[in-house]
Amino acid sequence: MSKTTTATRPADEASPDALTRDELQRLQLERLQWTVRHAYDNVELYRRKFDEAAVAPGDIHTLADIQRLPFTTKADLRETYPFGMFAVPMADVRRIHASSGTTGRPTVVGYTDGDLDRWATLIARSLSAAGVRAGWKVHNAYGYGLFTGGLGAHGGIERLGATVIPMSGGQTARQVQLIRDFEPDAIMCTPSYLLTIADAMEEAGIDPTSTSLKVGILGAEPWTNEMRAEIQRRLHIDAVDIYGLSEVMGPGVASESVLTKDGPHIWEDHFFPETIDGETGAQLPDGELGELVFTSLTKEAFPVIRYRTRDLTRLLPGTAYPAMRRMEKITGRNDDMIILRGVNLFPTQIEELVMGIETLTPHFILELRREGRMDSMAVRIERSPHLDRETCEAAVAVLQERIKVHIGTSVDVVVEEPNTLPRSEGKYKRVYDYR
Ligand code: DLL
Repeated sequence: MSKTTTATRPADEASPDALTRDELQRLQLERLQWTVRHAYDNVELYRRKFDEAAVAPGDIHTLADIQRLPFTTKADLRETYPFGMFAVPMADVRRIHASSGTTGRPTVVGYTDGDLDRWATLIARSLSAAGVRAGWKVHNAYGYGLFTGGLGAHGGIERLGATVIPMSGGQTARQVQLIRDFEPDAIMCTPSYLLTIADAMEEAGIDPTSTSLKVGILGAEPWTNEMRAEIQRRLHIDAVDIYGLSEVMGPGVASESVLTKDGPHIWEDHFFPETIDGETGAQLPDGELGELVFTSLTKEAFPVIRYRTRDLTRLLPGTAYPAMRRMEKITGRNDDMIILRGVNLFPTQIEELVMGIETLTPHFILELRREGRMDSMAVRIERSPHLDRETCEAAVAVLQERIKVHIGTSVDVVVEEPNTLPRSEGKYKRVYDYR
């Protein structure tokens, strides 16, 4: 199939504050119609799926008509690996990113010049929402390379008129040194990695509350409000949530306001969100917990139609940006759900309970095992170096009891010595399932 040009894509608008909800919805419809036509005309898989569902681009008259369109899943991306879902000629693709893909083929995404431009604008908007200003220095510790975190954030920091320190992930001692010497105002990394950095500061004899940092723009993994409180307490910064996924663009699909810290605002002028019942696929009303689904509205190289993120959240009315809806802070993915003897639980539920007990460290992993027909889960948690074993054992007994009461299942809790569990350098792997 020959790929047509994208010259007809609707023009960009100004700042998100300038739009009323009505104006936003008109813009969304116009952009949705363009996207659906663009995907159908240029991507074989979309054309086939639309034809099978007996729906054509001309059938989209209202935003509600989106429900007639088929979903897109990660399996579709794998099937068309590597470039089968690109909607522009390769000569117009200026950059490629890919997710590592824990199993099998990675998922590959592409960006035109225009896509990169809009991405930078949306990151700049996200940083602005987080309170970052032109002239600030931003330490970027998201991984550079195929991962969208590093380079995605990079472009937006520059776009805002701030100074980027392109540190990437890892080399924690070096991170600490550069934070001390370069005196950045803001840091971007995963929340779990920021805790690793804070620990390394302490080990280097630096008080984490004493640095130049004022705000952290943290994401790429689920984290709780309890974790936010812990980060803010340990570093004396504002910890703000940034959300995104490579299939839909990368970081900056949604981002939190430092003024409200009440869940990321979805940049709805570029991404149309839905929540659905994961089983039936039915669209849910706002406020109900479901699987988050996105349709891109302005993407040229890699449009996505009703992409199933597997992330669980609910859509809420806008606050800091009244025209844009928010999403509740993501507490888990469909794929992360642990089923332990018939009880469903998410690692973030354990995180919440751990962080609720002051004497416990945030360093824990979950191990699942099966002996005979019996499943068991162990929470292995590090003792704080400031606490003796006895005090820690007492705190752990409280944790065990709270897990039983709040989650409804008994688990083993094992106290580990300080600095013995794996530390985060990016997305933290908390669950080890040996069943
Ligand atoms: O993690 C993009 C990103 C980079 C977002 C830097 C924020 C900051 P992927 O590697 O494709 O892309 O992973 C996307 O990570 O579906 C969520 O499950 C999870 N995730 C991302 N941000 C958040 C967040 C990047 N703020 C997957 N809260 C998504 C919870 C998040 N989960």
